[in-house]
Amino acid sequence: MTDPRHGGIAVLDFGSQYTQLIARRVREQNVYAEVFPFDAAPEKINAHQPRGVILSGGPSSVYEEGAPQLPRWLFSRITQQADFPTLGICYGMQALTHALGGVVASSAAREYGPAQIAQHGDNPLLRNLPHELQVWMSHGDRIEQPPAGFVGLAVSDHSPYAAMGDIHRQLYGVQFHPEVAHTPLGADILHNFLFTICGCEANWSPSTFIDDAVQAIRQKVGTERVILGLSGGVDSAVAGALLQQAIGSQLTAIFVNTGLLRKHEPEDVVRVFRDQQGMNLVAVDATEDFLDQLRGITEPEAKRKRIGKLFIDTFADQARQLAAEGVHFLAQGTIYPDVIESAASSKSSKTIKSHHNVGGLPPDLAFQLVEPLRDLFKDEVRKVGTALGLPDAIVWRQPFPGPGLAVRCLGEITWERLETLRAADAIFTGELEAAGLLRLGTAQSFAVLLPVKSVGVMGDNRTYEEVIALRSVTTDDFMTADWARLPYDLLARVSNRIVNEVRGVNRVTYDITSKPPGTIEWE
Ligand code: XMP
Repeated sequence: MTDPRHGGIAVLDFGSQYTQLIARRVREQNVYAEVFPFDAAPEKINAHQPRGVILSGGPSSVYEEGAPQLPRWLFSRITQQADFPTLGICYGMQALTHALGGVVASSAAREYGPAQIAQHGDNPLLRNLPHELQVWMSHGDRIEQPPAGFVGLAVSDHSPYAAMGDIHRQLYGVQFHPEVAHTPLGADILHNFLFTICGCEANWSPSTFIDDAVQAIRQKVGTERVILGLSGGVDSAVAGALLQQAIGSQLTAIFVNTGLLRKHEPEDVVRVFRDQQGMNLVAVDATEDFLDQLRGITEPEAKRKRIGKLFIDTFADQARQLAAEGVHFLAQGTIYPDVIESAASSKSSKTIKSHHNVGGLPPDLAFQLVEPLRDLFKDEVRKVGTALGLPDAIVWRQPFPGPGLAVRCLGEITWERLETLRAADAIFTGELEAAGLLRLGTAQSFAVLLPVKSVGVMGDNRTYEEVIALRSVTTDDFMTADWARLPYDLLARVSNRIVNEVRGVNRVTYDITSKPPGTIEWE
């Protein structure tokens, strides 16, 4: 069988915040894509025999001192052999133009945001697309004079060469960003490049990613042992299942039950990972320690600090025991959005945001990191999780804050109040699941226990009990959010069930605040 990593696309990174997005858009069309620094060694890039190359955007200006330039090997190959289809995007197009003798100039008006382009003539890159299409622009410089052999393929108001190509040598450039969602037909343009121009085959899938990652993990750790922190969340779960497949008995996972998880979560983690996946799992029940630390604390930031510290201490105790046994690899479920690209660096170096779970490990625990999901986006991680056989309940879990139910149990945290909150939350999310609204339709839905009591009447008796607020939001990026317009019948059913089934709650409210000005969590 041929290696599905062969015949894909090499993406050369010139420092754009969208570079990984380009690779992901290629993978979405089932073609292997790998990102390399623009100045990576050609042997490294050619190891997987790419059919073509995409040059990313970047923050520089080609004439600036130290600006990243088209690598020499690529220049030789596209000018001498003309057998390597190349697509330059934004800065990538300018670097291509500059290297091949065209003229790039800074335009007086920076073009940023939506723009219309109009194509002229038939060409393989824009074939089967409408004559006029909407694209997303983000550039200062533009092409004044394309290199010899190139013709303009499309214009916009501000860019005489919004797209250009040398059809004979299979070299193309676009001034706009086909990889972002604001270019609605961007996928069709990439499709033309991948299949019509490069002749790629659509043979890349989550299972090929898994084969590849398994090999890479084995190569990195050899016969050594690895620790993994399992939170029950999607990312660490998928990383865990992947490591289990790669190195099985060499892996030890640590799961800290803080007592602040949702109903049945701790049991589910043990059932899925220890019983079903056969993982070496150390499950630490630290519930009492966390309750002790949180006793009498009502201020949200104080809760967060105490939880963060105790979590690290508990995890570190376990990790230290393993380190003493000679373990020095630590696996993390870091995914691409956790890794921030530094757009400011012309060397396209990366600054890593410390992952909140393990960022604060004490200095005596200097592990070597294994991060098999670093290049993936959340939806890709979910596909991999499903391909690894993880249940939907884990793969499709909604995001859950690190401090857990502590930030949803307003006021003092006691075991009894946590149990009340868990029961109400399970009813709400269970009804949403039954209505098909947990996986699609809402991005985050949960119950909050308020720090007030209210008067009610049950039978002939006056009651004075706790209040549950329901929160359900829609959002793409969690930076802004809107409250979900849930069906009234569903809200009515949830409210009835909570008041009838959860002891100590006599009132249910629904939060209709958007973000901003509200936040998604209440604390
Ligand atoms: P907010 O409440 O700021 O939440 O609108 C945005 C997203 O972040 C999650 N969140 C947290 N996640 N530790 C976390 O790991 C935290 O302290 C924390 N606070 C909020 C929240 O659930 C939502 O998805």
